[in-house]
Amino acid sequence: MITIIAGTNRKNSVTLKVARYYEKLLNQRGESCQVLDLATLPRDFVFSSLYGEENLDFSQITEQFIFAPSKLVVVTPEYNGSFPGIMKSFIDGWNPRKVSDKWVALVGVSSGRQGNARGMDDLTNILNYLKINVIPVKSPLSQIFNLLNDNGDISDDGMNDLISLQLDLLIEK
Ligand SMILES: Cc1cc2nc3c(=O)[nH]c(=O)nc-3n(C[C@H](O)[C@H](O)[C@H](O)COP(=O)(O)O)c2cc1C
Repeated sequence: MITIIAGTNRKNSVTLKVARYYEKLLNQRGESCQVLDLATLPRDFVFSSLYGEENLDFSQITEQFIFAPSKLVVVTPEYNGSFPGIMKSFIDGWNPRKVSDKWVALVGVSSGRQGNARGMDDLTNILNYLKINVIPVKSPLSQIFNLLNDNGDISDDGMNDLISLQLDLLIEK
């Protein structure tokens, strides 16, 4: 089981569409996966689930989507030059002892030209601090409005080749 995180709580985000596209690609390769949209987190989790406080809904989500699987795909949009704050707050709610040695593939989404490259680097530092491995091939999906077609698929051949290589590396772990 591979978890795909849509790393924003903005409703109907483009990031969620990209997460669904990765789900489709992984299913085509025979991999079972589950998508976690951060818009579905408990609304008060930042105040009810961090620093030792327990929110049962949040605990169930972290168990099912983060602690149980050994592999994740994390799709984050570029907000003000990096990944969204909700994603960092979500990570701050993880039990560090239950995440080490996992493998994570990173995907960046932006309307600008960077494809959240810096946000993926920032995330890599945090994940490595938690002893989580990051697949070295990352997918910076810049100018996303030019890449996604009306079916929610990425229509750029070069980018699909990169995504394919990234998924090969994740699946072989
Ligand atoms: C709060 C906020 C900050 C943003 N900052 C940037 C940015 O720094 N660079 C950029 O290229 N796009 C930026 N965007 C645009 C997003 O990259 C764009 O909306 C893209 O579709 C991914 O966001 P989404 O998943 O929320 O749709 C920003 C969007 C929001 C909502």
